[in-house]
Amino acid sequence: MALNIVVMGAGYVGLVTGACFAELGNHVTCIDINKEKIADLQQGFLPIYEPGLESIVTSNLQANRLHFVTSLDEVQTAPQIIFIAVGTPSDKDGSADMQYVLEAAHDIGKYISHYCVIVDKSTVPVGVASQVDSIVKAELKKRGLTIEFDVVSNPEFLREGAAIDDFMRPDRIIIGLSSKKAKSIMLDLYHPITRNPEKIYFMNVPDAEMSKYVANAILATKISFMNEMAILCERIGVDIENVRIGIGSDSRIGNAFIYPGCGYGGSCFPKDVKALIKMAEKEGVDPLILRSVEERNYHQKRVLSTKIVQHFGEDLTNIRIGVWGLAFKPGTDDMREASSLVLLEELMKRNATIQAYDPVAMPAAKKMLPNEWFDKGQLSFAEHQYDALDAVDALVLVTEWKPFCYPDLTAMKKLMRQKVIFDGRNQYDPKQMVDAEFVYYGIGR
Ligand SMILES: NC(=O)c1ccc[n+]([C@@H]2O[C@H](COP(=O)([O-])OP(=O)(O)OC[C@H]3O[C@@H](n4cnc5c(N)ncnc54)[C@H](O)[C@@H]3O)[C@@H](O)[C@H]2O)c1
Repeated sequence: MALNIVVMGAGYVGLVTGACFAELGNHVTCIDINKEKIADLQQGFLPIYEPGLESIVTSNLQANRLHFVTSLDEVQTAPQIIFIAVGTPSDKDGSADMQYVLEAAHDIGKYISHYCVIVDKSTVPVGVASQVDSIVKAELKKRGLTIEFDVVSNPEFLREGAAIDDFMRPDRIIIGLSSKKAKSIMLDLYHPITRNPEKIYFMNVPDAEMSKYVANAILATKISFMNEMAILCERIGVDIENVRIGIGSDSRIGNAFIYPGCGYGGSCFPKDVKALIKMAEKEGVDPLILRSVEERNYHQKRVLSTKIVQHFGEDLTNIRIGVWGLAFKPGTDDMREASSLVLLEELMKRNATIQAYDPVAMPAAKKMLPNEWFDKGQLSFAEHQYDALDAVDALVLVTEWKPFCYPDLTAMKKLMRQKVIFDGRNQYDPKQMVDAEFVYYGIGR
């Protein structure tokens, strides 16, 4: 049976959640406090780049199953389910900032008039679902109402760039709850995408909240560990790529998240590792591993600029550098905590001139970078991949976008002033990518 669903927050997670549940035949209203975002979405313009999302949003808008509004008061039909999918950024001290989640809880308490399941999809520390429960109860009390509701934790595991597929074909769905009524509604909701019920794991609310942090922390740990091994391999003349292949074939280790690179970024790993550190410290647990993971990542984001300085010297005045890839990973325009931001800052400090190109992330990057870099002509964005190589002394490859995989060497040789490449990706064989005319610096090889 089609459900009436509200999704609070129309960002990377909320928009995908809303669009996918509408695609499955439900009636979905997405709410966002950002009026501009909602006005664009009402017209079918997406505020983010996510492969496949635009066509699902457009077709469900046309089918009248998907609506975009700026407040709960505008929701037409009482929902059976309200998702909270608002941001949970890092606070100044590194802990997760819950202000948006708690504001959403107040809004829900001021609005509901029937039983509903409030589902926390945002990544939140243990105990937040219980805070949401208390806030909703307090708001209902102020209204003199005793409406039954349940708060459920249902952390999201989608990956930007593959979000639709991850959502529609999830490896697993984790649901923390303690009510039979909520369990039956959640089973109905997920039935179309989990015909195999073993994909749904029910547990207590705090266990579900914690599962999300532990998942992200272990993936960040694998990356930081391999980054550290890459640095060691480089020093002792071992090719990390062969090591990666060698260890990845061990089923106990697996191939995922063992590619070394120029540091992890994005909206999740950095903030979730930080939040877990704070959670541990609050409980008097010394998070030795998590702190090292973070510290390695801090240094890893500076590996490319260090190599550039070692090659060209500390003063980069008159050095022109082409950068390919700005997004924190391919398949998205998300620039949050992207390694490219650190690279640009380190190069700007040393007075380099930069010409950058990214297939989709340049508008998002423009919003995050200081205008004065562009005004002074120190940084420019190229319209095409090869325009970024015009008269450069080096090319820096940051993001593993497919069009950067095997570049056109003839064009590069014509365009580049000096044939020097710094490769932060390490997913491709440099021997196949460049020839002997290039000076090539990889990571861990
Ligand atoms: N981005 C990912 O890949 C990803 C994956 C899994 C989990 N998560 C988690 O999902 C949550 C959302 O992440 P995101 O990347 O989608 O964030 P986002 O910043 O892209 O979107 C959050 C949206 O919430 C809106 N908002 C804030 N307060 C609101 C309110 N009271 N009512 C309605 N809207 C409100 C903001 O305007 C914004 O558009 C976070 O907790 C994040 O850790 C993200």
